[in-house]
Amino acid sequence: MTDRYAVIGNPVAHSTSPSIHAEFARQTRQDLEYLRIEAPLAGFAHAVDEFRAAGGRGANVTLPFKDQAYRYCESAVTERARVASAVNTLVFENGKVRGDNTDGAGLLRDITINLGRALAGKNVLLMGAGGAAQGVLGPLLGAQPLRLVIANRTAERARKLAQRFGVAGGGYGDLRGAQFDLLINATAAGLAGEAPPLPPDSFAPGALGYEMVYGRDTPFLAMARAAGAQACDGSGMLVEQAAESFLLWRGVRPVTAALLATLRES
Ligand code: ATR
Repeated sequence: MTDRYAVIGNPVAHSTSPSIHAEFARQTRQDLEYLRIEAPLAGFAHAVDEFRAAGGRGANVTLPFKDQAYRYCESAVTERARVASAVNTLVFENGKVRGDNTDGAGLLRDITINLGRALAGKNVLLMGAGGAAQGVLGPLLGAQPLRLVIANRTAERARKLAQRFGVAGGGYGDLRGAQFDLLINATAAGLAGEAPPLPPDSFAPGALGYEMVYGRDTPFLAMARAAGAQACDGSGMLVEQAAESFLLWRGVRPVTAALLATLRES
């Protein structure tokens, strides 16, 4: 029987995960089917239960359910999911559920391998203090010794998050005079057609501006280009977190380069 997987979210119609996983399955010759499940906002757990009862082997979880997914399997989550307090990958095995979070690993892989950026000793700015920022902090800090600052519109949120991870945090005004080699936009500003209010000269020479939003040219990407930095959207992170989930489910890591090239061209 064909193994079944799904992405669960709301809304989920726009999700490109089914086509990414279909490509991975084709490439690695795995017999699987990958569906979209739109769970009602108050019905996440029920939707997961139903999918499991119907023989589902695993699922990706997207907005707005990553923290509910964490609670769904809180007693059986990986360390990186615990640090993120969020789950984006569920594995169903022998009547049990396991929760993991592949977002941070996906971001890191995109930056260090696909974009070829070494992080050791670099000055890193993480913008945002919501779930997207929290989800990538552990893997970012765990990988290499680097200096990381968190900035957020609501400075207090950045301070709290920064304190938890033992780094510096505050508002955008606090950044004046500082320059960064890697600037990661984990805010929702791009979705509203806005950019975080970075002071001018925040980009060090040769910097990378990384936008976690994908599939659109956001004001932050334009700002990075105008500053002479390399500008990159989150499509690489999307593909790499998917590859990491695929590895968890199927025990084989798909090659992402060709898929990424088509996504970055389109
Ligand atoms: P997510 O889980 O996607 O991170 P969230 O918890 O709602 O979503 O957080 C959204 C983040 O984007 C927050 O850091 C938010 O800043 P505030 O904490 O001040 O609300 C940030 N954000 C949203 N719109 C923004 C904008 N126009 N400019 C700067 N930051 C913005």
